[in-house]
Amino acid sequence: MSTPARIAVIGAGMMGHGIAQCFAAGGHDVAVFDTFTANLETLQARIRKNLSDLGEDVAAADRVRSSDRLSEAVADADLVIEAAAEDLGIKQELFRTIEGLVRPDTVLASNTSAIPISRIMEGLERRDRALGAHWWNPAFLIPLVEIVETQWTSPDTLARALALHKSAGKTPVHVRKDVPGFIGNRLQHALWREAIALVQSGICDAETVDTCVKASFGRRLAVLGPLENADLVGTDLTAAIHKTILADLDRSAEPQPYLLDLVTSGRLGMKANQGFRTWTLEQKADLQTRLLDHLKDARGRDRDLHAQVILEN
Ligand SMILES: NC(=O)c1ccc[n+]([C@@H]2O[C@H](COP(=O)([O-])OP(=O)(O)OC[C@H]3O[C@@H](n4cnc5c(N)ncnc54)[C@H](O)[C@@H]3O)[C@@H](O)[C@H]2O)c1
Repeated sequence: MSTPARIAVIGAGMMGHGIAQCFAAGGHDVAVFDTFTANLETLQARIRKNLSDLGEDVAAADRVRSSDRLSEAVADADLVIEAAAEDLGIKQELFRTIEGLVRPDTVLASNTSAIPISRIMEGLERRDRALGAHWWNPAFLIPLVEIVETQWTSPDTLARALALHKSAGKTPVHVRKDVPGFIGNRLQHALWREAIALVQSGICDAETVDTCVKASFGRRLAVLGPLENADLVGTDLTAAIHKTILADLDRSAEPQPYLLDLVTSGRLGMKANQGFRTWTLEQKADLQTRLLDHLKDARGRDRDLHAQVILEN
């Protein structure tokens, strides 16, 4: 294992507690700060429950401490990850304050979902040590973390952020430009746009869209990425298919009318029991359970594969 680092996580919510858990499970010391003390009070219990559900050593939670003082949480940190509210003003203010409290070599990272990293970090005196670290929910089950470089990020900052996330058992990738949606959400929402267009234009209903994905290329996606798939079938075949269908795909530059109509009519999805589809309580609970079981199985398989590679080397 690499030398334990000191990690500070800002925000003890859905993402913050999972991020803290991963670094602690990777052997690092973690301090978590939140302005809402109730979330700090439940932090240990939430992390212990996750670890126990995964069949992992709950003692990792001992490496996580809560703090209601920002200065104390970030003092001496090697890496600060901000997972507070998705609000540009709050994030800018946090980083401006944090900059005055940390060592000169501390890496500063934001886990924003969609705010450009350069906007968040533009007011800092030392923008070279700042970047994005976009985790996915649940943080302890989804391996990917997109490490987003801005025009100011130094190579050393980038290398340290990548290494620290790797040491926490994550799969960090380097995003070379600070573009909206980074990589994962650009790909995901390109698919969602076409999915909505298929329903909007009456080609099929929402259930059929989801069946088509889950019963076909969705099965392969976890082991065969789109460009691996293009190589598998051949770039010549890929080009031929694109010649036929690309011009016909949706190119909306705004949310589509069908989606906006769902929103304005209150069909907000599972929280309203109606969205693209209608949801009963049982259906919602069943889907949540199947998703979590699937993610846990996948994580178990990843760990088996990792253990096998270590044994073979
Ligand atoms: N939930 C997701 O799927 C997801 C995925 C990737 C990234 N993100 C991003 O991660 C961040 C956190 O999201 P979340 O889902 O954990 O939200 P959340 O509401 O569950 O947690 C946010 C926490 O930040 C705290 N907070 C708010 N302002 C603060 C401040 N000024 N200082 C310290 N703590 C503060 C809140 O009290 C809360 O505990 C957001 O930027 C979000 O967009 C979320």
